[in-house]
This record gives sequence, structure tokens and C-alpha cells, in this order.
Amino acid sequence: MTIYTTTKALQKKLFSLPIESSIGFVPTMGALHRGHISLVEKALQDNSHVVVSIFVNPTQFDNKNDLVKYPRNIDEDTALLKNLGDSVIVFAPSAEEVYGEKVKAKKYNFGRLADEMEGQHRKGHFNGVGTVLTHLFRIIEPSKAYFGEKDYQQLQIVRKLVLLENMPVQIVGCPILRESNGLAMSSRNERLTDAQRNEAVFISEILKQTRENFSKKSIPALKRAAKKAFDENPHLELEYFEIANSETLTSAKRKQKGVSFRAFVAAFAGDVRLIDNMAVN
Ligand code: PAF
Repeated sequence: MTIYTTTKALQKKLFSLPIESSIGFVPTMGALHRGHISLVEKALQDNSHVVVSIFVNPTQFDNKNDLVKYPRNIDEDTALLKNLGDSVIVFAPSAEEVYGEKVKAKKYNFGRLADEMEGQHRKGHFNGVGTVLTHLFRIIEPSKAYFGEKDYQQLQIVRKLVLLENMPVQIVGCPILRESNGLAMSSRNERLTDAQRNEAVFISEILKQTRENFSKKSIPALKRAAKKAFDENPHLELEYFEIANSETLTSAKRKQKGVSFRAFVAAFAGDVRLIDNMAVN
């Protein structure tokens, strides 16, 4: 594993690779966990080299406190990546290195995809994600980029981004990794107390219940049941529970033949915002 902090040094390394090399890319904000490692492992299976970026992107945070408190531990991150061998190249730039002088998000027209769920509750979030990924894709020029389905809406937005920006990179979605109790792996879990980690399992349990009851109940009834369960839970504060069309992400009102649906949750455990989702049919 080698680590670069400037675009110039990274590109020098990438240009020096043999012509037949293929570059996979795993963008991260650090605080790496097994979910990230599974993305890097998948990328290593598909490509001769994998660039992992570690950059907490300021323009995708609508809440300053959330940005300040976002976990950062570059030494632990690089120690984990070292175990994956010499084909891993880490890019850990400063904000100026990525953005230049103006650390500012561009405005994208992602259409209705960005209006739902995360788009409604985190204003400007997807413009920030789109902007940083556009910069990083242009710097790295990967043939494939890997994203976890935990941020399912982000994954759909990124698929749209590469079309809008006409960038020749294949977007690969990878399954959510869960702790043995069902909690979806997330960098934010680091900020949970032991008690909150146990309490947060409720999120995946409600998603599983929704999946189990999908064939028995109507979509409005499933939404009502999930919201009631959160209302009765003193440990978590629900921001949204949604059942949506897996492709368009529009809120679903009724089942339709041949259409796949997913359930989505955002909830707070104390001041830690957690998201999760699951295919329900
Ligand atoms: O999913 C994330 O960690 C971030 O949104 C990403 C894709 C690295 C962009 O900053």
C-alpha cells in the first residue's frame, strides 16, 4: 500500500503503471470498517490496482456539527489497508487539493431521485457528493467505482451523475455488511455507546419485519406499523421510514407487479444519525 496526498504525486504513480493496468476506485470518508474493506476486496478481484480515497468531504454536510464530529482515524485506516497488499493506493488529499480555492458544491439536476428521503432531509447533500465524486473521478480516471448499498440513494444518484457528467466509469453496487446482530456497518457506529449499538439493532429489525410482512399487508399499513413501532421506542428518533420503488426511489403507495421495492430508514440514536435499507420483495 502506498499513500499520496497530492493529485500530482497520485497521477504520477497512476501514469507509471503498466499500460494493461486497470484502476478500481473506492471513495470513502475514512473511519474504515469491514463494509469498506469488502468494497476494496471486490475492487481488487476486478482490477489490477485499487485507489481508496480518504476524504471527509465538507460540501456534503448540511450540519456543521455532524462534519466536525465525523470520525477521523487515518492511522487505523491505513493500517487496515496495508493488510490488503501492494495493489492498494491510498489518496488522502486536503480540501484545497480536491477543490482548489473554492470549496463549493456545484448544482446538479438529479431529478426526482434527489427530492426523496436523504435529499429532503439533508439539503444540498447530493450536490456535495456529486461535486466531490466528479473531481475524484477526473483525477483518478478509474474504470470501475464501488459503492455500498447502505447508501442506496447515493448509489442511484452516482449512476445518474456519471451519465450527466459523461464520465466513462462503471458504477458497481455492493451489498450491505451487517454486524452479527443485524446492525448495518457504518463509520458513524463508532460514535455510538455500547447501549446505543444494541438499541440501534431495532432499525434492521423493523426493516426485516417489513420484508416478512410485505406479502401480507398493504404498503400504507406497513408504513404505519413501522412508524408506530419507532414512536413506541424511547431510544431512537425516527426521521423517516419509507417504502419506495428501488429504481426511481419514489414513495410507494401500492404494490405493482414486476416492480421491486425497498424500505428505507433514517433515525437518530442520541445525536448520531443512522440510515439503513432493505429489499422487501
Ligand atoms: O459514502 C461516502 O462515504 C461518501 O458520500 C463518498 C461517496 C465517499 C463521497 O464523499
